[in-house]
Amino acid sequence: MVKFTDIKGFVFDLDGVITDTSRYHAQAWGQLADKLGVEYPGLGDAVKGISRMDALEMILKKGGLAGNYSAAEKEALAAEKNANYVQLIQNMSAKDILPGMADFLADLKAKGYGISLASASKNAPTILAKIGLSDYFTKAVDPATLQYGKPDPEIFVKAAQLLDLMPAQCIGLEDAAAGIAGINAAGETSVGIGDAELLHDAAINFTETSQVTLANIEKAMND
Ligand code: G6P
Ligand code: MG
Repeated sequence: MVKFTDIKGFVFDLDGVITDTSRYHAQAWGQLADKLGVEYPGLGDAVKGISRMDALEMILKKGGLAGNYSAAEKEALAAEKNANYVQLIQNMSAKDILPGMADFLADLKAKGYGISLASASKNAPTILAKIGLSDYFTKAVDPATLQYGKPDPEIFVKAAQLLDLMPAQCIGLEDAAAGIAGINAAGETSVGIGDAELLHDAAINFTETSQVTLANIEKAMND
């Protein structure tokens, strides 16, 4: 069992952890699903943490359309979703940082913890710049270099490597079930943020980002 004192670094998901962009992903995918005539209850939760192309495949499969599009047509559909999404994030600013997360990052930095980003989103650098948190995330896994998407542990293993740490020395923070699975498979301590039922595999669960503090994590690890 990992002790709090073993922890040297924190690996962050972005969408739904640092800022509430998951609702924009849900909205943009919803627009595309409507256009394709695909009904997908729970679409917003299903695409959390899932790469752009994998999310598209999920929607096509749900609508029984998996074999209907060429690779080029799928690229065009994914690009269309991204264009919708980019519109939605255009006016983001520091006000869109989720409660407590700016203080949490400042506290980690002040206390000398390593900080890295494990977001599947190719829009992550743009979003971090818009909300004014780029300086915390000089160490970020480039999703374009990944072979596998979440729930594969690859992104979380790489995020620990960027910090020169062993996975066991890292805590991973996620709002998606696929992300929690990846953190656990990487051998890191998982912190789930959101619905405890959805994130039942997380080692530690917080309902709200405002509860994410070093003191609360230490308490949870010592319980
Ligand atoms: C995050 C989000 C997913 C999104 C993925 C890719 O993991 O939770 O919903 O599909 O990033 O984002 P992108 O901005 O590259 O399309
Ligand atoms: Mg997320």
